Amino acid sequence: MTTSTVEIDEIVDGLSGEQKQISPKYFYDERGSQLFDDITELPEYYLTNTELGIMRDNIDEIVELVGKQASLIEFGSGSSLKTQILLEHTSELAVYVPVDISDEHLHASAEKIRARFPHVEVLPVVADFTKEFDLPTPMVMPIRNVVYFPGSTIGNFEHDMAMDLLRVMHHEAGKNGALLIGVDLQKDPAIIENAYNDSAGVTAEFNLNVLQHLNRDYGANFDVDGFSHSANYDAEKGRVVIELVSHADQKVELGDTEFDIADGEAILTEYSHKYTLDGFAEMARAAGFSVERVWTDANKLFSVQFLTRQ
Ligand code: TRP
Repeated sequence: MTTSTVEIDEIVDGLSGEQKQISPKYFYDERGSQLFDDITELPEYYLTNTELGIMRDNIDEIVELVGKQASLIEFGSGSSLKTQILLEHTSELAVYVPVDISDEHLHASAEKIRARFPHVEVLPVVADFTKEFDLPTPMVMPIRNVVYFPGSTIGNFEHDMAMDLLRVMHHEAGKNGALLIGVDLQKDPAIIENAYNDSAGVTAEFNLNVLQHLNRDYGANFDVDGFSHSANYDAEKGRVVIELVSHADQKVELGDTEFDIADGEAILTEYSHKYTLDGFAEMARAAGFSVERVWTDANKLFSVQFLTRQ
């Protein structure tokens, strides 16, 4: 792990505002990545299983829409089961392009995919996918680009950032391009809150690990036991607010900066937005996409959507 002054400045900035916050990207050190994998297997965390079920139930139609000789460009790490289901069924893919900001993560998962799918060309790209980046040139000329963005990760961006990201995907999809995206849906708040407050406490551990990560790699001195995990669904805004709440007045140091955190004060670590089908379609339209097909599970918990460029 290399720490940069840019990152330290970003963390200090986040903790200096009226609403203290830590960017969700600091969740994912080694321990955090492991804990997140554990979250996806929790009985309460319906997102992963439901999305997998939707993919499995509709894979023939999905593959048909993706079409032959497509370039599949995955935003975020590509080691997931969902990607494997797609790759298993798209025998005539031109190229698979996983895009991730973490070099290590990306190359490890690219190797895994190569070993499992030796007939698919895999061209990983290290990039921050919230900004436009250059695509590699595959051996076989693709007929179209299909951007893949599973896991409802779009929900972790606030509206303006989500719009920017959809526009980047629109750009990378290019002419005739498409976007296959997982989008979590608004529903009974109890189901949503349970998903982020599991009974085994894994989500709490995951959330608190961000402080451990800042202590370990960025020289902070958070008293991790002085905070608790909190996740509440704001039905009006359609989002889960994930925070770390302090139990006491405390002082925390990071580099040369000292922060006062009051008893009961919350540090925001993540939002997870939930959409209505209409609400998401409107955002997609504003970014230049039209929704061509929506698949959901029987209980309408989650959606997988196929969008094409207008
Ligand atoms: N993308 C995941 C989501 O919004 C991330 C996540 C799951 C998460 N559980 C969490 C983030 C708990 C913070 C805390 O569902």
